Amino acid sequence: MKVLVNDQLIERDEAKIDIEDRGYQFGDGVYEVVRMYNGKFFTYEEHIDRLYASAAKIDLVIPYSKPELRAILDSLVTANNVGTGNVYLQVTRGIQSPRNHVIPETPLKAVLTASTSEVPRDMTLFEDGRKAIVEEDVRWLRCDIKSLNLLGNSMAKNKAHQAGALEAILHRDGSVTEGSATNAYMIKDGTLFTHAADNLVLAGITRQVILRVARENGIPVDESGFTLTDLATADEVFISSTTIEVTPIIAIDDKPVGDGKRGPITKQLHTYFTAEILKQCGELAFV
Ligand SMILES: Cc1ncc(COP(=O)(O)O)c(C=O)c1O
Repeated sequence: MKVLVNDQLIERDEAKIDIEDRGYQFGDGVYEVVRMYNGKFFTYEEHIDRLYASAAKIDLVIPYSKPELRAILDSLVTANNVGTGNVYLQVTRGIQSPRNHVIPETPLKAVLTASTSEVPRDMTLFEDGRKAIVEEDVRWLRCDIKSLNLLGNSMAKNKAHQAGALEAILHRDGSVTEGSATNAYMIKDGTLFTHAADNLVLAGITRQVILRVARENGIPVDESGFTLTDLATADEVFISSTTIEVTPIIAIDDKPVGDGKRGPITKQLHTYFTAEILKQCGELAFV
């Protein structure tokens, strides 16, 4: 399998990272995960715009124009012949020796790396849903930046995994923010609730598509958020991300959500979402 290191396509086991790369030492960098269906990118521009926006928020200059980046990512997915899978890319601020918290005034040479994986759609995930746990959100206050600092996210996700759940739904003082690697939603009396796209959550690209198709199809959307008390009496709960689309949450801390099955609005939203994939990427093996 080929990977990208800067603009070079090389074999995976030939890729090397400097021990004083600021991404490695400080988590100083940004990343994206872009989904492909049938060898075609889904919501590519939105992801790349968010990558450049995240980079700008930490004063990191991506050393490629958007068309240049597209050309090198195209060469990667062609080399690996990606069909339905994920493209992971990250840009770190670069190598700084000796290590120093202070960011040098003269910009370092940022380091781009990217890899791909073939990941088919998992229809059982969308239909059967998964369990979640609730965890305190102990992350920093700039969750709008898709940064490489994912220790808080990773620890919460791991706790969920240990409890036999897919995701940890996070809250600050009882107010639900998002999942450890997903956006979180609740449906109550026909209205779709989610946290505002502010500094406490990542403005998910999947979230953006879901809210658009909900509005287009007459489902009321409320972005003022919801509490753990609301969550406990929700009719439906689901989470979303690039890799898991619209995944129902059927139990939280082992208590069933609604009747413990995917709810009708969650199902409808996934149908609308799938239609968007079809529009951009053509017929899917599983619809
Ligand atoms: C913390 C967090 N929130 C939300 C999301 C969902 O974002 P997207 O729909 O763009 O994948 C992710 C995705 O990785 C995430 O890590």
